[in-house]
Amino acid sequence: MSSLVFLDPAYPAGRIADIDAPHLPVTLQGVNRGDGVFESLLYTRNTVRKLDAHLARLQESAAACALTIPDELSWRAAIDTAIADFDADGGADEAVVKLVAARGVADSDPAWCWITVSPAPALGREQRASGIDVLLLDRGYDSKLADRAPWLLMGAKTLSYAVNMAALRYAHQHGAHDVIFTSADGMVLEGPTSTVLVAQRDGDTKRLITPLLETGILPGTTQAAIFAAAEQAGWELGYGPLQPSDLYQSYGVWLVSSVRLLTPVRSLDAKPLHFDAELHEELSELSQSIR
Ligand SMILES: Cc1ncc(COP(=O)(O)O)c(C=O)c1O
Repeated sequence: MSSLVFLDPAYPAGRIADIDAPHLPVTLQGVNRGDGVFESLLYTRNTVRKLDAHLARLQESAAACALTIPDELSWRAAIDTAIADFDADGGADEAVVKLVAARGVADSDPAWCWITVSPAPALGREQRASGIDVLLLDRGYDSKLADRAPWLLMGAKTLSYAVNMAALRYAHQHGAHDVIFTSADGMVLEGPTSTVLVAQRDGDTKRLITPLLETGILPGTTQAAIFAAAEQAGWELGYGPLQPSDLYQSYGVWLVSSVRLLTPVRSLDAKPLHFDAELHEELSELSQSIR
């Protein structure tokens, strides 16, 4: 059902491996320190969506970690191999293509790099339609920290997602589906696995706003693609700063990401948010059209 391909200099198109068999040394720093980088992409209707943007961000994240990874051509060849293997085994309507580069045992070792392709979780698709309840959770640092502390790797997509997963578990334990992080100085940041989009309406003018990148959030490829499509469709675009009050006063709030696409937030800290069905429909179509 799922496929695994390693990037391996001895196999220019990538080396297919058994996803159920053990492959990694337990001493890998990528494994026991979460020292590495990754990307999650959507594969649907014979297309790996936004491949260029994901490969560019993978290289940027690796550069931020001083991790040397194979070039884009090697990744593309191995992705093709993984997709072909996945499709030959039955495929799926929507699949997640995950690219991983993990630091080796010694700092001087080449990174261990692999690709998995697996069916996309059904829950994400359900939530696109049903919407989600979200908690605001404090990330504990101020919105100016990224500049002052480059060693925190803010804005890089590293494998160290334990905190993001803990925030999601906290939300689930408290009756919500997801999280929007805020900074210590009260700014809206991002979700643990998503970017925040906010819509405003002023007469005929429709405006789409996302938090400032300078707050140390991950530059979302879905947000960027939706912004480009929305601009073509006549929307005005804006970049934060956003505070929770802006979310309550908006015409709609969405969490967007590559695999889940566009998910409407129906409540924030148990208070209902405005939902504009027309705007939602329009943004859904834009998000589905992203290539
Ligand atoms: C922390 C964080 N922010 C934003 C996103 C959305 O990024 P993208 O749209 O490129 O998937 C993700 C995706 O996993 C994420 O982990």
